[in-house]
Amino acid sequence: MSLRIVQISDTHLFADPDGELLGVRTRTGTEAVINHIRRDLGAFDLMVISGDLVHEEGEAYEQLKGLLDDWLPRCRVIPGNHDKRKSMAAAFPESDSPLEDAVVFNQPLGDWQIIGLDTLKVGHVPGEIDQPQWEWLEGLLVENHDRPTAIFMHHPPVSISSGWLDPIGLLDSERFCQLVEKSPQVKLVSAGHVHQENCSSIGHAAAYTIPAASVQFAVGTDEFSIGTEPPGYRIIDLEEDGSFTTQVVRVPAS
Ligand SMILES: [Fe+2]
Ligand SMILES: [Fe+2]
Repeated sequence: MSLRIVQISDTHLFADPDGELLGVRTRTGTEAVINHIRRDLGAFDLMVISGDLVHEEGEAYEQLKGLLDDWLPRCRVIPGNHDKRKSMAAAFPESDSPLEDAVVFNQPLGDWQIIGLDTLKVGHVPGEIDQPQWEWLEGLLVENHDRPTAIFMHHPPVSISSGWLDPIGLLDSERFCQLVEKSPQVKLVSAGHVHQENCSSIGHAAAYTIPAASVQFAVGTDEFSIGTEPPGYRIIDLEEDGSFTTQVVRVPAS
């Protein structure tokens, strides 16, 4: 029997439910995505929320918690560049990070190992993994070399062919990709941050990004530009043999 992960990202909520980012009320898309999952998708085993949960306002985590409601015990969160690490950790005690200065998670799911990384570099738009987290991640991958693994992070470690978004992805992505390449059990990496769907690879592993639950960025542009696609989320179905299937679901906001 497969196990289902639902990934949502970049909700960019404000403390004011009518708060707007780039002229878009971010709660509208977030509600549409969450309502769609509740109504049309149904059961899942784990929800990963991959950063930029709020847009700079620590109080806004309460807005998201209100929407997630009974799902909270099955939700794991990691920060993006617009998150407030301390407020986030306090708002989502379920994530219970094993590292002191980072909001990360290591969640077993059947035979799978599901890892969430904290790539928030305070005061900067691009992301980084700090030294204690590198050591934690490298240790986990050595220790659990026989468990199929999925890694979630906010900043993509690979190019999405965007002249303005590629330079603000994960710094030191080379080190990350080398680690994945020498870890055959890592089956997929999935990120947010770029507010658009993308699919590529890191050696043997698939590398994805997902649409934002709020405002979209245009695909394949060299300068900042808003996208016209509806918000979306990603479903990942994990199989016992280490294989998986995945798809992005788009949800009209109105
Ligand atoms: Fe974002
Ligand atoms: Fe971001």
